[in-house]
Amino acid sequence: MEADIPLRCLAYTSRSNQNWTDADLRELAERAGARNLALGITGRLLFAQGSFIQVLEGAALAPQDLYHRIRRDPRHADVTLLIDMRVGTRSYPSWGMELLTEHDLTPEQTSSVLSQVEKAAQEPAISWDSLLGSIRKLEAGRPATAVNTTPRQSRADVTLDRLLAAARSVLLRDGLTDASMKAVAAEANVSLNTAYRYFSSTEQIVGLMVHRWQTSRIANFAGRLAELRVDNEAQLAGEIADNVSQQYLSNDLIPLRIRLVALRDYHRIAYAELWAFAGLVVQTLERNGLTSADPTRQERIAMALAGIAAQAKMAALHAPDQLHGTRFRDDMASTLTRAMRGAEPAPGA
Ligand SMILES: Cc1cc2nc3c(=O)[nH]c(=O)nc-3n(C[C@H](O)[C@H](O)[C@H](O)COP(=O)(O)O)c2cc1C
Repeated sequence: MEADIPLRCLAYTSRSNQNWTDADLRELAERAGARNLALGITGRLLFAQGSFIQVLEGAALAPQDLYHRIRRDPRHADVTLLIDMRVGTRSYPSWGMELLTEHDLTPEQTSSVLSQVEKAAQEPAISWDSLLGSIRKLEAGRPATAVNTTPRQSRADVTLDRLLAAARSVLLRDGLTDASMKAVAAEANVSLNTAYRYFSSTEQIVGLMVHRWQTSRIANFAGRLAELRVDNEAQLAGEIADNVSQQYLSNDLIPLRIRLVALRDYHRIAYAELWAFAGLVVQTLERNGLTSADPTRQERIAMALAGIAAQAKMAALHAPDQLHGTRFRDDMASTLTRAMRGAEPAPGA
């Protein structure tokens, strides 16, 4: 999908400067994942024995720019660059910054992480030994009881999923204004303290629901774009317009009562997505031979996407039937087609 775009893979290790709880780490990874989406960056974050190892991959200089920002973060120190190289494909094509802690480091998972990272290493000038050495050191320093911590980690994931499911039921039953963390904890059958270790408010839970929903949706659609053969911009625009309509009509992960709340915050959350998504659209155009010299094409597409998403949101809130109509879909598609054609004059203009 990204064969024509120079991709770089960067990895570093650092020492933590503070005590990270599982919840802190999860929050770091969730935020990093959301921000990285906007930069088209994917990767993985490992944390074990007080050390971080992070792999960042993305187009052109994006990984380096991010690396220089992360370096300055006072929550860690001794930041050491291990790899900075050009790669042909991403090793972690799913959006988000998946977190692995030492609880996850069963030998199989570790070797799978390593082999995925290794796949990215297609150039000889890499300090692979350092990376492998660092991970081995973590493994070697792992307390013997660490084997028992694997269930603990999966328990944390189970609790998180249970809280999300409980929140969904409570939100549906009580509505957002009346939903309380106490009710969510009771529904999930966990203590209130436990619930607060994961989330500070029901709003935050809705935020995570929406974010998970959006990232899985964009990942699915990105997969479809990668396969898509189109003859012209309008055809691609039509596909996207259909997807936008469906997404706003979709009742699967965000049922109506929550959807109204989710949509209120939708743009704050979705904003980060638009740039990355516009990048995927540009790649799809180029892969289909629909090239353009317009350097602002990605910006134009991102802005057009923001515009049509805002229209779709208003329709979803006030006149959902419009979303089924072809007129609405055709309007969205033609706005997008114009943006895709960039500086080139519209036909007949
Ligand atoms: C170990 C570690 C890894 C991080 N990874 C990322 C990341 O992948 N993406 C990201 O946006 N921020 C990441 N951050 C957070 C950034 O350092 C920074 O706090 C965040 O991007 C906000 O930047 P700003 O304060 O300049 O707005 C990471 C921080 C640490 C300590």
